[in-house]
Amino acid sequence: MIYAGILAGGQGTRMGNVPMPKQFLLLNDKPILVHTVEKFVLNPRFDKVIIASPKEWLNYTQDILKKFQIDLPKVVVVEGGSERNDTIMNIIDYIENENGLEDNDILVTHDAVRPFLTHRIIEENIDMGLEYGAVDTVIEAIDTIVESSDQKFISDIPRRDIMFQGQTPQTFSIKTLKELYNELLDDEKEILTDACKIFTIKGRKVKLVKGELFNIKITTPYDLNVANSIIKGSLDK
Ligand code: CTP
Repeated sequence: MIYAGILAGGQGTRMGNVPMPKQFLLLNDKPILVHTVEKFVLNPRFDKVIIASPKEWLNYTQDILKKFQIDLPKVVVVEGGSERNDTIMNIIDYIENENGLEDNDILVTHDAVRPFLTHRIIEENIDMGLEYGAVDTVIEAIDTIVESSDQKFISDIPRRDIMFQGQTPQTFSIKTLKELYNELLDDEKEILTDACKIFTIKGRKVKLVKGELFNIKITTPYDLNVANSIIKGSLDK
């Protein structure tokens, strides 16, 4: 089976003083989360689209899905976890409880606050996920990356031509991700905030899919302004 996991379990603290977590803020009169979910609902290859939302926002999430007519049988809402990876694991627990886990089941995980992903990015994540069992979506690094271990002086400047910036979706063989995650020690779980890193530290290959510059993550008020410009630009065309 092919599942989508929309990660909407965060509180959006870097967005500052707003009345609700950023995934529920409006972009062109529609919640950011709805823009994102619509992209997944349009792809017929998904058996289920599972949205994980903060406990206190579960009813609200159901309400906006209804309001924007995407409360379809294949869309479900589950409770998120305290860290991003806990949210992914909650989604996997839901899948396992409902349908059990098969060897070739994959989960396309995506940040609810990246509403501009494309059909191509989703398709390539599904195809590469089925073939390789682990996929990350990236763009080539634009700026030179400067590393500073003590945050005061440069410790390294890696070659820019082999540096990439991570986006989402990230797609995984569900069984493998669960196995690898369960092998981690508690302090490793705390450090491994990126699910792909769980694969790389265990020596597993993660296939790269090309993202898009405009597939931004809305994190700060500045990003929300940029997102509004992107939407406006696409409507003007
Ligand atoms: N996320 C999640 N569960 C968590 C934490 C984050 O599902 N426990 C989701 C967010 O809702 C978001 C995505 O992961 O869609 C990317 O994370 P980030 O931008 O860091 O979101 P927040 O944790 O909400 O933001 P902040 O760090 O500013 O609080």
